[in-house]
Amino acid sequence: LTASWDIEAAEKGGYPHFMLKEIHEQPTALRATIGPHVEDGLPQLGVDALTDEMLCGIRNIHIVACGTAMHAGMVGKTAIERFARVPVDVDIASEFRYRDPILSQDDLVIIISQSGETLDTLAALKLAKERGAKTLAVVNVVGSSIARAADWVIYTHAGPEIAVASTKAYSVQLAVMYLFALRLSLAKKTQPEEEIRRLTAELQRIPDQLAPLLSNCNEIKYLASQFMNSDDLFFMGRGFDYALSLEGSLKLKEISYVHSEAYAAGELKHGTISLIVNGTPVVALATQKNVYEKALSNVKEVKTRGGRVILLCKENAPVPEDVADFVVRLPEFEDIFMPMLMIVPLQLFAYYMSVLRGCDVDKPRNLAKSVTVE
Ligand code: G6P
Repeated sequence: LTASWDIEAAEKGGYPHFMLKEIHEQPTALRATIGPHVEDGLPQLGVDALTDEMLCGIRNIHIVACGTAMHAGMVGKTAIERFARVPVDVDIASEFRYRDPILSQDDLVIIISQSGETLDTLAALKLAKERGAKTLAVVNVVGSSIARAADWVIYTHAGPEIAVASTKAYSVQLAVMYLFALRLSLAKKTQPEEEIRRLTAELQRIPDQLAPLLSNCNEIKYLASQFMNSDDLFFMGRGFDYALSLEGSLKLKEISYVHSEAYAAGELKHGTISLIVNGTPVVALATQKNVYEKALSNVKEVKTRGGRVILLCKENAPVPEDVADFVVRLPEFEDIFMPMLMIVPLQLFAYYMSVLRGCDVDKPRNLAKSVTVE
């Protein structure tokens, strides 16, 4: 008697690709990551050395990472600056390590890495330590080189990520960025404790908010079918929406091989607008109330020049007629946490573009899951 079975198919748990499986694992990964960091309704980092006194002594924060992890750092910058009022730089590890960075013992360098093995990121961490800065690693793989080399570690709990394009690891990195921002704010008393409690409770509600987005696959698949033959595609947004544009654009090029660029929407008129002609596809992200009108006026500029627009905005956001060709509505939620919701349709869009274009979704050409060479 012989049993025929395919171990890879079994590991995919019924999904056609690891990437789709991992996109759907995000609520579980988020619960596993956020849960241990909430105590009596308040954020806690689980690092004994990071006392209130230590946190209050931090003058500058530098977030250093590569690829998707660096994009998580960009969301972290906005969250930390907004809540805790500490200046944050975000650096690509390969730039940071050769730029002779200015660091002191009052600086905290946060290193973000899914694998914990990326060579440039590890080298940046070692440099930061040599220069006397304090180092905190946000890592998914327990016992990895970066986890071992940093002064302190906060683990994300995404579980193993197999697809080369990172999805659930990014989401949990965002969660840690928010937890850190809230905890720092608590120590520095830049927000009332009640507000931090409220936001922490909201953060805990995010995994449930993802369910309707994950069951919305057909709408996103349809959108992908409308854009699958595009050669170039632009993403644009402001603030958090810009940080998400970068990640949406990276996901798309990584796995579908469509050229794409992300623009801070306000920069449009300083260059990209010259590229918008009849039919140019533009994905516009507009989830932030404070810049919503500005974002819409950028969309109108694109539309006037014939751009073919997908607009991502909140459920109740007013969208004038003829501003967008397609509108993807996201659940109403706290503005600052919208990145954690918006990432799902962006991941799904890249996924279906890749599938429809016949690409190798889980193992895109020329890319590696972990880059341990320069
Ligand atoms: C590679 C992967 C990306 C990842 C980047 C950083 O380029 O393909 O998905 O974001 O490395 O990896 P890390 O393990 O340090 O987060």
